[in-house]
Parts: sequence; C-alpha cells; structure tokens
Amino acid sequence: MTDRIVLPMPGNAVLATRIAATGAARLGEMSLSRFPDGESHVRIESDVRGRAVFLVSTQLNPDPDFLAMVFAADALRELGALSVGLIAPYLAYMRQDQRFAAGEAVTSRSYARWLSRAMNSVVTVDPHLHRLHSLSAIFDIPTTAIDVAPLLASWINCGIENPLVVGPDAESAQWVRAVAEPVGLPWVVAEKVRHDSEHVSVRFSDDLNKYRRHTPVLVDDIISTGHSMAEAAAALAPHHFVAPVCVAVHAVFAHGAEATLHRAGIDRVVTTNTI
Ligand code: R5P
Repeated sequence: MTDRIVLPMPGNAVLATRIAATGAARLGEMSLSRFPDGESHVRIESDVRGRAVFLVSTQLNPDPDFLAMVFAADALRELGALSVGLIAPYLAYMRQDQRFAAGEAVTSRSYARWLSRAMNSVVTVDPHLHRLHSLSAIFDIPTTAIDVAPLLASWINCGIENPLVVGPDAESAQWVRAVAEPVGLPWVVAEKVRHDSEHVSVRFSDDLNKYRRHTPVLVDDIISTGHSMAEAAAALAPHHFVAPVCVAVHAVFAHGAEATLHRAGIDRVVTTNTI
C-alpha cells in the first residue's frame, strides 16, 4: 500500500480521485460540516498514521477553506500523519503582492506565511507571481509550481489559424511570452489601468495593423470578473480582427464573468481545470 494519501477538501473529490488514479497516492476521506453557529466540524475518516498526506483544495472559496484546511492539517498530525502537504492547483491570494493603497494588507505574504505554518509543502499550477519571482520569496516550506504554458501553446497551435497572442496587461506578459516565443508566434501586450475590481481601461500602443490577418488569442493567467479580457477585446475591435479567443490558466469566473465575456464578443473561452 502506498505511503501517500490524497485527501480532498469538500468539492475537490474529482481532482483528488484523478490524482489517486495515477497510482501516486491512495484516496482518503474527510468530512466537513458546520455547527449551527457556523463553526467548522472537521473529521478525518481515513487512517493516516505513518502516511504523507496531501490535502487537495482548488481554493475557490479561500477564506472558509483556509480555516478548515488548518484544522484538518492539525488533526492529521495529531492522528499520526508524517507530513501534510497542500495540492492547490489554483493558489489564492497571490495577486495582492504589495500595498497598492495606504493601509492595505499584503495578503500574498500573509497567506503564504500562514500556509507555511500549517503545511509541510505546497504544489500549485502557475501561481500569480508578478513582482515576486518565485514562491520561495514568501513561503518558508518547499513549493512546486507547475508550468502549463506549453499545454496552452500546443492548444493554440493546433486549434487556431494564424494566431496573434495578446496579453491584456503587463502582468500577463510572462504568460504571453511563455506561450508564444517557444513556438514562434507573434505577440503583443496591452497597457491596463485598474480603477477598481470591476473597472479597467486597456489600450494598445503597438501598431496592430500588421497583424490584421491574424486571429487574436487573449492570454492571461486568471479570468476573475472577465473585465480585463473584455476591455482588451474592446480595444482590439477598431482594428477589425475576427472575434478573439480567450485562453487562461485559472477560471475564477466571478461576478458573471461568462456574461461579461460574451457581451464583449468573445464566444470562445478555453481554460485549464485548476478550479
Ligand atoms: C491580474 O493581474 C491577473 O493577471 C488578471 O489579469 C486579473 O486577475 C483578471 O481579473 P479580471 O478578470 O477581474 O479583470
């Protein structure tokens, strides 16, 4: 029997089952319910003594999930687990990596600090690292970041005729370049100003006329409300391209993102299944 157990946080059974199906770990069970006052009731249902346990959480609801993860990690150690790792294909809270306005909490740093206390390791996919260059800048535990740019590049190359890879903002440039350059695709990156979480302005300073026969493929790491992608599509519109395709790693899809993208004339959105 394998020494590793994957334990899905609620809502993560499909992913954990797929991980277990690779033979890398056995599927374990835990349950999470709420007391009438909203407190968490966590119960580890599997025997974890002497095992390395990996909690699986896509972090779509990071605040309630975090406390439950911490309770689970503590319980696992008390029940004899050798170590407790976190598999979080989408790692929440990485975007606030500096104090943009006076008094703001730098939540990426705090979140990493608390996770480092609770877990022995973290595995994730394409974390949002912009001003930070690696997770080790904020985590005190071993971290692994899986890079999906080659998969996105191969999907674009097989599925889109004559693509122009387009980033909606400077933060997307690292994904745009990682997708476009190894396979020799042209790319441009727009300038974005964020006014608040629902309002952004996007403009292109490149001469886009030379790409008129290309299909724009908007690439970003995260689609949250969809406004970055939608405004980038709007900024492309005067250049008479065919309708853009949207490709992203993490489909957060908050506040009606699908409708926002649809209204912007984007009818094809492709993402990974990290969430
Ligand atoms: C932040 O810079 C990220 O890379 C994305 O551009 C951002 O999270 C997208 O947010 P939204 O979809 O709400 O515009």
